[in-house]
Amino acid sequence: MKIWILGGQGFIGRALQLACMRHGISWVASSREEADITDARRLIKIGDCIRPTHIINCAALTKVDLVEKEPERAFAVNTIGAKYVAVAALELGAQLLHLSTETVFDGLQDRPYKEEDPCRALCIYGQSKLGGEQWVREVMQEACILRTSWVFGLGSNHKLSQWIQRFAHEDVIHAPIDEIGSPTYVHDLAETILAMLDKSGTFHFANQGELSLYHYARDLHQALRERNPQMRCREIKAVTSTHFSRRESRPSFGVLDTSYIGKILGKQPRSWKQVLEDFIKEL
Ligand SMILES: NC(=O)c1ccc[n+]([C@@H]2O[C@H](COP(=O)([O-])OP(=O)(O)OC[C@H]3O[C@@H](n4cnc5c(N)ncnc54)[C@H](OP(=O)(O)O)[C@@H]3O)[C@@H](O)[C@H]2O)c1
Repeated sequence: MKIWILGGQGFIGRALQLACMRHGISWVASSREEADITDARRLIKIGDCIRPTHIINCAALTKVDLVEKEPERAFAVNTIGAKYVAVAALELGAQLLHLSTETVFDGLQDRPYKEEDPCRALCIYGQSKLGGEQWVREVMQEACILRTSWVFGLGSNHKLSQWIQRFAHEDVIHAPIDEIGSPTYVHDLAETILAMLDKSGTFHFANQGELSLYHYARDLHQALRERNPQMRCREIKAVTSTHFSRRESRPSFGVLDTSYIGKILGKQPRSWKQVLEDFIKEL
């Protein structure tokens, strides 16, 4: 087995490299400079030298504010780039695992989204990722598409890292109570990706627990305060998302139903409380 990780220097790509190392799996991780997924011909050329058995596509334009400002770039990478990756995988005879997101759904449902629920992305990011999923499925029917949400861990630029910094400098932090999702610990995700490499179909993975961004911030704050009672931030205040001025609209309910992947792996994802404990130990 030899895995080629595209977008390999990104947040999830780096966690995957660690997981490959832990499992003694051979891998090559390429950065955007080394393997740009918008350059179809070069991608196949590089792949020809690497000769991977599996490709994991972590390459994407993920900075949501940039995506909203430059939608054409987002579609070039997240939609057309994903297509080129699938074409390269087909050409190279490699199995493909493509990462996607809960933002392909509209967030209007009141129960967790199942794999077969209709997709309707509201934000440009979600639309560009949905386009990528559709191309991957069209080019390579047997590909594995893994949707995940709110991935966190050391080195992420997700909300959690921003909050940790703000806890040190601000007395009160406001967090929305009407944006609901499930955090996913990056190491649990990386292990799941490796376990799903030879599967085909669409799957949802997140750690278990539905929580608002307010509860997310509050749990994190509580856990960190136990370790450091001198921490400056004293209070997390619940507000609605109208409190923040943002260009993009994200699903207000982005919880993924993980029962299908739980059956396939023979165990349900760990709970938010468990992974939060692990994360705090990692700090
Ligand atoms: N993090 C989350 O919360 C989350 C949640 C759900 C799904 N996902 C999905 O998981 C995947 C990885 O996300 P991540 O959090 O690891 O994002 P990330 O840290 O932004 O990593 C993405 C990587 O892709 C690279 N990239 C951008 N354009 C590229 C191109 N044209 N060719 C090759 N590489 C390119 C980036 O390189 P540069 O930095 O040099 O541009 C970056 O290293 C994405 O598909 C994302 O949609 C993430």
